[in-house]
Amino acid sequence: MRLPAPRGPVTALFFEHLTCRPHAFDPSSVCSGEPAVEDEDLQLALFVCYELHYRGFDEVDDGWEWNPSLLEARQVLERRFEDGLAEAVPRPVPTPSVPMRRVLAELVAAAGDDPSLAAFLERKADLGQFREFVVHRSIYHLKEADPHTWAIPRLHGGAKAALVEIQADEYGGGRLERMHSELFRATMRKLDLDDSYGAYLGRIPAITLAVGNVMSLFGLHRRRRGALLGHLAAFEMTSSLPNLRYGHGLRRLGGDATACRFYDEHVRADAVHEQVAAHDMCGGFAAAHPDLAGDVLYGAACALALDRLFTGHVLDRWTRGATSLREADLAVGSR
Ligand SMILES: [Fe+2]
Ligand SMILES: [Fe+2]
Repeated sequence: MRLPAPRGPVTALFFEHLTCRPHAFDPSSVCSGEPAVEDEDLQLALFVCYELHYRGFDEVDDGWEWNPSLLEARQVLERRFEDGLAEAVPRPVPTPSVPMRRVLAELVAAAGDDPSLAAFLERKADLGQFREFVVHRSIYHLKEADPHTWAIPRLHGGAKAALVEIQADEYGGGRLERMHSELFRATMRKLDLDDSYGAYLGRIPAITLAVGNVMSLFGLHRRRRGALLGHLAAFEMTSSLPNLRYGHGLRRLGGDATACRFYDEHVRADAVHEQVAAHDMCGGFAAAHPDLAGDVLYGAACALALDRLFTGHVLDRWTRGATSLREADLAVGSR
């Protein structure tokens, strides 16, 4: 993956440093600012910092991953993101007398699906809009499951076994052609999209980056492990029916079995995953760590709130006849 064009002073500063050999720099030059979930400069800067822990960038030395100056600057950005989340997402109050799976189900039900992006894609979207949706999702689906995998070494007992059960499915049980990220690549190719990792990063707006960044934020900080599990549970609990609709929508637009397989697979798999995630994983974790039950619910609430903001962004743009992606920029390596 290549660095895209900078989107403001922070990404400009980061990219200037990151394209040199790792060195110390003054992290205070990344000033703190307003709490932010939809700030383009902030979300891209965080995405780039986090990506150094996944597959990196062609022009960035791997030695930057644990560079103290960069980590210190990242912390400033993370605080703004966490403050923005705290403002946007009310913290649910845990109710120890009610089973965790039921509290999670109530959270999901309260979030509702209105306005529903899945219903729009099923019945109304044109092919260009469906392709846009796939481009947005590619930022996560091409590394599907990786952010939640960070939690495995931080768990034990039943919660760990449940997470491994889910992740094993996400990674296709060790079979390349069944890995969900590979199924998604096939969908992209069928839609004449570039399936290489991060190919569309330059076109991805802040809210879509935030949807991915929150997983990395929760995944890379052990103190956030409860929130990471709640986030995964909310993902799984809101997946099966929307994926059925995405599959219907893509078939309506001429998608064949290969194009739709990613969505079909999630209708089946996530009907099971949601039970394992809510009951065995989050329920088991909250029983073992009652003090972190509120974090589990907060992680779920963050996933639901960011998805709602993402849906609002996309439908708002489409309703106005505009693209939901950023206009292509002209920087080297961007699309
Ligand atoms: Fe999946
Ligand atoms: Fe799943």
